[in-house]
Amino acid sequence: MTKSEKNKPDHSIVADYNGYDYKKIFWEDGKRDYEDLADRMAIRKLLPEHMESFVDIAGGYGRLADEYLPRAEKSTIFDYSKTELADAKKKYGDKISTKSGDIYDLPFKDETFDGLMMIRATHHFKDMPKVVEELYRVLKPGGTAVIEVANKKTLPKMFRFWFKKSSVNPFDKNPSKIDGLTMYNYHPKYIEDLFKKQGFKIEKVLSVSNFRSAKLKKIFGTKTLGKMENVAQSALAPIRFAPSIYYKLKK
Ligand SMILES: C[S@@+](CC[C@H](N)C(=O)[O-])C[C@H]1O[C@@H](n2cnc3c(N)ncnc32)[C@H](O)[C@@H]1O
Repeated sequence: MTKSEKNKPDHSIVADYNGYDYKKIFWEDGKRDYEDLADRMAIRKLLPEHMESFVDIAGGYGRLADEYLPRAEKSTIFDYSKTELADAKKKYGDKISTKSGDIYDLPFKDETFDGLMMIRATHHFKDMPKVVEELYRVLKPGGTAVIEVANKKTLPKMFRFWFKKSSVNPFDKNPSKIDGLTMYNYHPKYIEDLFKKQGFKIEKVLSVSNFRSAKLKKIFGTKTLGKMENVAQSALAPIRFAPSIYYKLKK
């Protein structure tokens, strides 16, 4: 490997969802009703009521489309996986446009959208500075971006580190790779500095999926956990408690 190749950012596709039944395997078989509800609660609190053009970046099969379709005159789902996009098209037909491509080179002109969101995707991206640059580029001035970030500084991750179950130091601000997986977690301080450096203004932060635990889900059930989650999203935001941190950003 030459020196210039070594210094090149890694933009490889680390998670190819083509042919993977994400909806059935991850959401339905994985019994993630609580996590789905937690995402929806956050999106309802953060997305503007009305947008002309909106894009769901790495939106998969459109799990969350019914949250933004009523708020946007024109909605697009962008994703790498053509099979995920085909599922979205099957369900929503003309109500939604789909576009495939790679996050590191979004196939949209500068300042195309007045709203965008990107949920449950950052763990697949090694080069977040480039991702943030691309999101900023396609947003109109004054536009809103709702971005969910996989948080490396959570309490369970701290315990795993202290008890030597994981080598990942949650207090280290640099991005980390999850042990044994090609997935990345981000420190809130790292990501917030990145947003600001790019020119985004952070308008609101929520702590989301605060009770993501098989035991808690079994004891309380989705309805009760949902009520607790609703309060915890704002209450625990100042300490960036949950595995998912949601940001409402303004360009
Ligand atoms: C965990 S899924 C989340 C889907 C959706 N946002 C949701 O919350 O249900 C991650 C998505 O990121 C997409 N993805 C992964 N790498 C990508 C890349 N380099 N460019 C565009 N999309 C990518 C995958 O195809 C997949 O649909």
